[in-house]
Amino acid sequence: MLGARHELAEDSSPEANMKKAIDLWAAMPAVVAYDQRRRRGQEPVEAREDLDYSANFLWMTFGEEQVPEVVEAFNVSMILYAEHSFNASTFTARVVTSTLSDLHSAVTAAIGALKGPLHGGANEAVMHTFDEIGIRSEESLEEAATRAKAWMEEALAQKKKVMGFGHRVYKHGDSRVPTMKAALDKMIAHYGRPELLGLYNGLEQAMDEAKAIKPNLDYPAGPTYHLMGFDTQTFTPLFVASRITGWTAHVMEQVASNSLIRPLSEYNGPEERHVP
Ligand SMILES: CC(C)(COP(=O)(O)OP(=O)(O)OC[C@H]1O[C@@H](n2cnc3c(N)ncnc32)[C@H](O)[C@@H]1OP(=O)(O)O)[C@@H](O)C(=O)NCCC(=O)NCCS
Repeated sequence: MLGARHELAEDSSPEANMKKAIDLWAAMPAVVAYDQRRRRGQEPVEAREDLDYSANFLWMTFGEEQVPEVVEAFNVSMILYAEHSFNASTFTARVVTSTLSDLHSAVTAAIGALKGPLHGGANEAVMHTFDEIGIRSEESLEEAATRAKAWMEEALAQKKKVMGFGHRVYKHGDSRVPTMKAALDKMIAHYGRPELLGLYNGLEQAMDEAKAIKPNLDYPAGPTYHLMGFDTQTFTPLFVASRITGWTAHVMEQVASNSLIRPLSEYNGPEERHVP
């Protein structure tokens, strides 16, 4: 809808694409914040000119100003999610752009690719794992870790894929994780929720011992958003709001030096069959 109604909808010049990218990026906090609010039966909250991007995003979601530690942790997540080279959704945006389609169509397709749990949907899936294990606020860090380890051992014995772990590119750990984990640690201390750290540590340790697979960015991001008060359904839209920047930058690069992306596939089915 934002694309169809944009005054430059049919224009893919560099200037028009830059304007559309900035407009889209600016609109996303309102869209994501109101999506959560309407689910909770709440009215939309007006944007505030005096707040920065992250402080305003939280303001529009919760209708209350957040303390600087919370704003900073949210800001860290937005920066880490903003751009990440040729991941599946960015590649999707490039493919759509390469057909000379428009920026909004490329972003719409990218959102579809990001939604899957093997990609951006993983931050929500991490929270579903925590919920399945059970978040018990009265529990100590050690008790929670023990239950989480047992859950992971069982999941791996059943050959389950556990979301929030592993990466197509980083085979020895995701370089974004230490920064996001530090933000999560601050949120755990801020909200006084050691049992969440117990679950986090237990799963991480058990996965490392069993398969030496390390967490990816979605692993610390999920519980961080949970602590801040976001609904789990909002986690992947938060990722979208940030990744708009990366996707649209790639769209503009693709337009600047375009060539249709059209891979060949290697056929490995049955040999040519006789047509009677
Ligand atoms: C991201 C991902 C798709 C990368 O996959 P990949 O590079 O193809 O890794 P592989 O599928 O080759 O995995 C190698 C082995 O590790 C296992 N593995 C990888 N990630 C795993 C996970 N999250 N949980 C359990 N096992 C996992 C595979 O099952 C495979 O085991 P096998 O050799 O016994 O068959 C994969 O790690 C995954 O599905 N992770 C969970 C989803 C997720 O968090 N996505 C967000 C990424 S930022």
